[in-house]
Amino acid sequence: MSDKVQIFDTTLRDGEQVPGCKLVTEEKIIIAKRLEELGVDIIEAGFPISSPGDFNSVVEISKAVTNPTVCALTRAVEKDIDVAGEALKFAKKGRIHTGLATSAMHREYKLRMTAEQVIEKASFAVAHAKKYVEDVEFYAEDAGRTDNEYLARVCEAAIKAGATVLNIPDTTGYCLPDQYGEKIKYLAENVTGIHKATLSTHCHNDLGLATANSIYGAINGARQIECTINGIGERAGNTALEEVVMIMRQQPDLGLYTDINTPLLNSISKQVSEMMQMPVQPNKAIVGDNAFAHSSGIHQDGVIKHRENYEIIDPKDVGVDHSAIVLTARSGRAAVAYRAKLLGYEPTKDELNVIYQAFLQVADTMKEVNDEELLKLLKA
Ligand code: KIV
Ligand code: ZN
Repeated sequence: MSDKVQIFDTTLRDGEQVPGCKLVTEEKIIIAKRLEELGVDIIEAGFPISSPGDFNSVVEISKAVTNPTVCALTRAVEKDIDVAGEALKFAKKGRIHTGLATSAMHREYKLRMTAEQVIEKASFAVAHAKKYVEDVEFYAEDAGRTDNEYLARVCEAAIKAGATVLNIPDTTGYCLPDQYGEKIKYLAENVTGIHKATLSTHCHNDLGLATANSIYGAINGARQIECTINGIGERAGNTALEEVVMIMRQQPDLGLYTDINTPLLNSISKQVSEMMQMPVQPNKAIVGDNAFAHSSGIHQDGVIKHRENYEIIDPKDVGVDHSAIVLTARSGRAAVAYRAKLLGYEPTKDELNVIYQAFLQVADTMKEVNDEELLKLLKA
């Protein structure tokens, strides 16, 4: 039996907070509709109190999508929650995401509140949000650095006030996978009333561990993962949606699945990257330009003989037409013959030896030998 993990996409909220990634409402609607097609369960559409533009985006996205829950972020502040409630009034399924920081550092140096005051404010915020929507998610900001026993008390209070989802953010990307997994396990086992709420991961990538931490969270009982397309987000970014989804798909022994329509991953990645003017690094897992490109002779020979020798994902499963055999000075004869065949040439073994020597001369002078260059060699 496999368990569903809900995908909570925050590209339009945590992702859009990145300098330079700002979108106007019309652009956000386009992305929200693509996210709906992709099959995400929840779209975090914005932080309505933050600006009239963000308020409007939450309103318009609520009107534009049908299946996903539309979520609006607030601080644990009455006015924020009132504005979010108003922004969500057209949502077929609306969720308010409210909360505050819980770590000792944030309590002392940011909020200047006692541990008990934080618990009171958490209860108040959730109870107030319940006046607008049934579905209220509570976030314990900097939960990654919050003492587990205290965090459990905060979660308990949030559940008592009516929280349906408990978000446990590793806001600063501090945790190691086993620490984060332990945290989720501790909450799953020690929070009274936890059966009434879903535990959610929300991991940042400061140490490059956001994906690993989210998966460890799910292994230990979280049933919602918060993530963004291409992993965009504050500083080093958020958990990449495409990575956690493909991990759960490629590792069936985890017993976890999502409803994501994975062949759309590549095109939505490109669309978000273009609209937000945020390039994707070529070696990015799943959606980078080189994710299915092979350039060294040994790998090329292996892939040509049997794709799975060097690929654990069928590129078609993520919307990439085919694996690429890239010709460089590290390529071998098998790769040159393979690319020649695609161009309609099938040289004999002896002909190939001659072409290959000429190919190496050319390849040493350039980063990549393209079809045009290869044709010149084939016709020589
Ligand atoms: O990283 C974080 O803690 C957040 C919360 C506002 C959910 O983005
Ligand atoms: Zn965040």
